[in-house]
Amino acid sequence: MLRIVQIAFLCFVLAIGISISAVIAKNESIDEILLANGLPLGIFPKGVKGFSVNGETGRFSVYLNQSCQAKYETELHYDEIVSGTIGYAQIGDLSGISAQELFLWFPVKGIRVDVPSSGLIFFDVGVLRKQYSLSLFETPRDCVAVRSDAEFIGENKVQSSMLPLYQVDQTLGRDTV
Ligand SMILES: *[C@@H]1O[C@H](CO)[C@@H](O)[C@H](O)[C@H]1NC(C)=O
Ligand SMILES: *[C@@H]1O[C@H](CO)[C@@H](O)[C@H](O)[C@H]1NC(C)=O
Repeated sequence: MLRIVQIAFLCFVLAIGISISAVIAKNESIDEILLANGLPLGIFPKGVKGFSVNGETGRFSVYLNQSCQAKYETELHYDEIVSGTIGYAQIGDLSGISAQELFLWFPVKGIRVDVPSSGLIFFDVGVLRKQYSLSLFETPRDCVAVRSDAEFIGENKVQSSMLPLYQVDQTLGRDTV
């Protein structure tokens, strides 16, 4: 009996894994699109002034009223235009978001959450895979204008391929009582 339940569960997980196409209905807000795809609302900060999405491909652009930085466990930098492809529980081909690590900025290439949820959210920053607690991303954060964008776009934005392979575990403190 237990075995049947396990197999059924596995099939369920596989089915979800295969049907990754985005859930997008007409006239939805970006919040509704995120929720319908099992993604938290706080992926984008406050100050979203518009967005466009292709309901067939899941390709989207989000327009912020300013490029800005928001504080999560570490800083995230948002360009005025963030683009990517939304699918169920994931965003791929991402551009316009960078994560700060060791005083350097890494372009975030993808974001995903586990199905069923593990309570974590994963940021693909090339060789680095950052994981944050999902609860950090429940609601959109304040996003503060950057002093000088030239400063950000300049030399301190790193190509992640230039760095040696290492992993950062950001789950510190999650298990403390
Ligand atoms: C979607 O928005 C368009 C333009 O604002 C409107 O004409 C249309 O009736 C809306 N459709 C639905 C289903 O709300
Ligand atoms: C952008 O929106 C945010 C949040 O609503 C606001 O705090 C900020 O002042 C706005 N910035 C500009 C340049 O309008």
